[in-house]
Amino acid sequence: MAEDTNNTKSSNQMWGGRFASGPAAIMEEINASIGFDKKLYAQDIRGSIAHATMLAHQGIISADDKDKIVHGLNTILSEIESGQFVFSRKLEDIHMNVEARLAELIGAAAGRLHTARSRNDQVALDFRLWVKEELQKVEVSLTSLIAAFLDRAEEHADTVMPGFTHLQTAQPVTFGHHCMAYVEMFGRDRQRVRHAIEHLDESPIGAAALAGTGFAIDRHMTAKELGFREPTRNSIDTVSDRDFALEFLSIASICATHLSRLAEEIVIWSTPQFGFVRLSDAFSTGSSIMPQKKNPDAAELVRAKTGRINGSLIALLTVMKGLPLAYSKDMQEDKEQVFDAAESLELAIAAMTGMIRDLTVRTDRMKAAAGSGYSTATDLADWLVREAGLPFREAHHVTGRAVALAEEKGCDLAELSLEDLQSINPAITAGIFDVLTVEASVASRKSYGGTAPSEVKKQIAWWRARN
Ligand code: ARG
Repeated sequence: MAEDTNNTKSSNQMWGGRFASGPAAIMEEINASIGFDKKLYAQDIRGSIAHATMLAHQGIISADDKDKIVHGLNTILSEIESGQFVFSRKLEDIHMNVEARLAELIGAAAGRLHTARSRNDQVALDFRLWVKEELQKVEVSLTSLIAAFLDRAEEHADTVMPGFTHLQTAQPVTFGHHCMAYVEMFGRDRQRVRHAIEHLDESPIGAAALAGTGFAIDRHMTAKELGFREPTRNSIDTVSDRDFALEFLSIASICATHLSRLAEEIVIWSTPQFGFVRLSDAFSTGSSIMPQKKNPDAAELVRAKTGRINGSLIALLTVMKGLPLAYSKDMQEDKEQVFDAAESLELAIAAMTGMIRDLTVRTDRMKAAAGSGYSTATDLADWLVREAGLPFREAHHVTGRAVALAEEKGCDLAELSLEDLQSINPAITAGIFDVLTVEASVASRKSYGGTAPSEVKKQIAWWRARN
């Protein structure tokens, strides 16, 4: 798209009646938003077509003028999409760029389009439409990410790995169960996206500058035409409100936080020390100096993009927090934050989906690690409660002594002899060895939502029916 940055001083075409001389160059630079809000061209044109159609339907403009306006707007749409349109910074923003071109194309009738509206409700409309479409895209990409996790979870419902707390080996779990934890997180993100779409599904157009209008407009008609559930109810709120942008950024930040935790796990898992996964070449890079290296750059960048997305949320919250009602020009700063966060989020979700689909799970390494660090100690304690009738606190103490003994002997809990174990507590029988293996430990955790493969498979089926 071309841009005309020619900086001649002339009075503005839109409010030239009151302003005798053009703006200082620096004013033009700080004031103009066309550099970024041209992204809203399709929403702007759609909104204007709906508005003109309603104005004609209500007899506020003639059918003939409406036809000229609609035709002119469609011409502008194709000019922009084919790259012929010349954007001008002197015309400030997308709204005035489109309207000025409309005047060139159709003459006087163009001047009737802005009847009963203001750029305040116009920008609120354009931006809401854009955010709504973006949320719909995020909903689709989260569904793909969830699908990738469901496939990996199904494949690895029985693959044992260590579960961690404090990144210290805690209890054995399955890789399938771990994958399903992310399904829950991204499932909640997707619910938040759906709720946000519901919240913003109200049409702002017709609120005009802030007070509504004396023209007999039909806001229900434009709302319907533009695919909104209903019109907004308070014109002051309508032009002041950027909750929909803040909500988008909050959701993006929470989702990015989930992506970042996953990225961090991938970085850790792919180190030679952990070696739980091998990243595909497609999502890693080599080192220019160390030939043995394979770096998880994509995961690292997903982790880093989270900082950027969180920054956008804080930036817009800060812009909005001191604004009196209704519109203030500060609000023009909303767009770049949302556009940037949207781009980063889409990229991060797509990269993670690819990485999850492509990575090789090293089941041997996971299994070896699952048994280390006395990960079945809780199972020993539980056995003492169940089979020997010990109170849990006492069982915990006995188990602690067994761990200390194993540590002293440099072996696993399952490698202690029955005599060793009975020297700590005589109630222990050979049956104990059934629960000391990693597989037995995992299989026993059948509580609802637990890590037993049978339970994980139930959760996978639950999600498959909803994805
Ligand atoms: N470019 C402006 C924005 O993004 C459009 C609304 C301007 N309204 C106004 N009264 N100056 O917020």
